[in-house]
Formats: sequence, C-alpha cells, structure tokens
Amino acid sequence: MTPSGAAGTFNHMTAPADPTLEIYFGDSLPILRGFPDEAFDLIYIDPPFNTGKTQARLQTRTVRDANGDRTGFKGRRYRTVRVGTKAFADNFDDFLGFIEPRLQEARRLLKPNGSFFLHLDCREVHYCKVLLDGVFGRESFMNEIIWAYDYGARSKTKWPTKHDNILWYAKDPINYTYRYDDIDRIPYLAPGLVTKEKARRGKTPTDTWWHTIVSPTGKEKTGYPTQKPLGIINRIVRVHSNPGDRILDFFAGSGTIGEAAIRSGRSAVLIDSSAEAMRVMAERLAFARPVFHGYKPAPRDVPQPSPLWP
Ligand SMILES: C[S@@+](CC[C@H](N)C(=O)[O-])C[C@H]1O[C@@H](n2cnc3c(N)ncnc32)[C@H](O)[C@@H]1O
Repeated sequence: MTPSGAAGTFNHMTAPADPTLEIYFGDSLPILRGFPDEAFDLIYIDPPFNTGKTQARLQTRTVRDANGDRTGFKGRRYRTVRVGTKAFADNFDDFLGFIEPRLQEARRLLKPNGSFFLHLDCREVHYCKVLLDGVFGRESFMNEIIWAYDYGARSKTKWPTKHDNILWYAKDPINYTYRYDDIDRIPYLAPGLVTKEKARRGKTPTDTWWHTIVSPTGKEKTGYPTQKPLGIINRIVRVHSNPGDRILDFFAGSGTIGEAAIRSGRSAVLIDSSAEAMRVMAERLAFARPVFHGYKPAPRDVPQPSPLWP
C-alpha cells in the first residue's frame, strides 16, 4: 500500500449519499499521509499499547569465555549473556514515538468541527494527555471518559483496575458536533427520588460510562482479542457525528467502528496492519460490502447475504 495509492481511491470529499466502507491493510502512517486534509468528521483510535517492536527487546552484555561463540580482539573468545529486558519507561518512550506522528496526522485529517477520541488505559493515559495537549492545544481537551466495567479476576493486593480511559479532543472547542438529543438514556440510581416521568425516561450519562465488556459467549463476540463493545462505540458515533459523515479508525482491529458507523448511516474508513484483523472484518462487515485496499478476502471469510443486511 502506497500513500499515493490510498489517496487515489479516496477522492470524494463531500459526504456520500449512501454510507460506504473502505478497509485498508497496512501500517497506518503512510496510509494516513495519503489522505487529503480535513477528510473526516470523527476519528476514534484504540491503539496497541507498546508496538511490539520493543516490548521484548533484550539487553545483553559480552563476557570473556574460552568456549564462547564469538571471536574478538587478538583471537579472544567471548559469549553474549542476557542481562534483562528493557524497562517499562523505555518501552513507553517508544510508544510515544510511535503514536505521536499518527496523532499529528489525525489532527490534519479532521474537519474543522471534528472530534478525536483516543482509547487508552490508566497506564498510558497521562502521558498521552500531555502529548495531545501539544498536538491539539489544551483548550481542545473536552473530556476524559471513564469506561467502567466489572469482569474477571479481582486483585487482593490493590483496588482491582476495571476501567479504560477515553480522551476526547474537539479540533475547535467552540464549534463541534455534539448531538445531545441522540444520547442514549440510562436508569436513575434512585428512581424513587425523581418523578415517575423522569424515572421512565432515564437520565443522560456523565463522563463515567458503565458498560460490560464484550461477552465471551455473546453474539457480538468476533474472537478478536481486544474487541471493544458496540455499546461504547455506538454512543461515540451517534453523539459525535451526523448521519452521512465520514469516520476514521486507523487501529481498527475487529472493525467495531465500522459496524457502528454503517448501522447508523455514517461512512467509515478502517485501517489495520494485521491480516487476522482483515479476516475478522471481512466476515463481520460483509453486510456493508466493504471495498478493501491491499487485501483480498478469501471467499470462505465472506458470509452470504442475509435478511439482516441493510
Ligand atoms: C487494541 S486493537 C483495536 C481493537 C478495536 N478497537 C476493536 O474493537 O476490535 C489495536 C489494533 O491496532 C493494530 N495495529 C498495530 N500496529 C498498527 C499499525 N502500525 N498500523 C495499523 N494498525 C496497527 C493491531 O493489529 C490491532 O488490531
């Protein structure tokens, strides 16, 4: 996939009449660089923490050893010993180096009233907040959304960590899309304290969103290990974009953003560098008849049309 190849297929910059889905296979950065400025209304990403390139990097030292496998100065023999692996901080520096140019691209690609969402967890969110303040400007920071869940093992040595952090930046903090009336309502904690009518309607959520993880046995599950729940992603899509808008996810995984976008009348462009993600998306998103770039789905991965297709 070349940047020019990406741009060449992406030349309709006004909102399309029917939602369309495009899926790109490859490293996100060169593909992003091929898109024109201000091409998207909403960008959501859920990046891999640590790129994998450095996570397992070994630190080694060479020591004198008559039986060593390497020959050095004056024919002396040496062997290499492992002294450990790179510390968290070093890995994290690499992650920031990996993510920063992609964040710059995200800002360039957003329309003037567009929003950017970065999905992280508590280990990296503070570093990325500082980075994003630099990229978008501190005034563009709108919310840190806490997605709280309660599933899996519970630590007995500290408070069990059961939340993710989602940072929201608006390119223009005065003029941005926020469809208040489309916010889904949740039950009051104490419905007896409000009128029957209010209790029936429910209330709008705060910046803490309680939602279960993707159920390991539920219908939504694709088998992709880091799949995010549609309930969380639907809320972002429906409140922060308008029907007909175009949404970008450049760490798309199982394609949750694609499903939320198409089912609510938005177009989506998805990018991922994993062949497994392509396979999962080909199956999950077949109903939207996606156009693939740099990947050809195997016929067995694409289900036949069903009455559930829009
Ligand atoms: C946490 S997962 C995203 C999961 C997704 N939100 C979902 O609901 O399924 C991160 C994804 O980033 C992809 N990825 C990692 N490095 C990438 C790169 N350089 N370019 C594009 N995608 C990359 C991985 O293959 C993985 O699918």
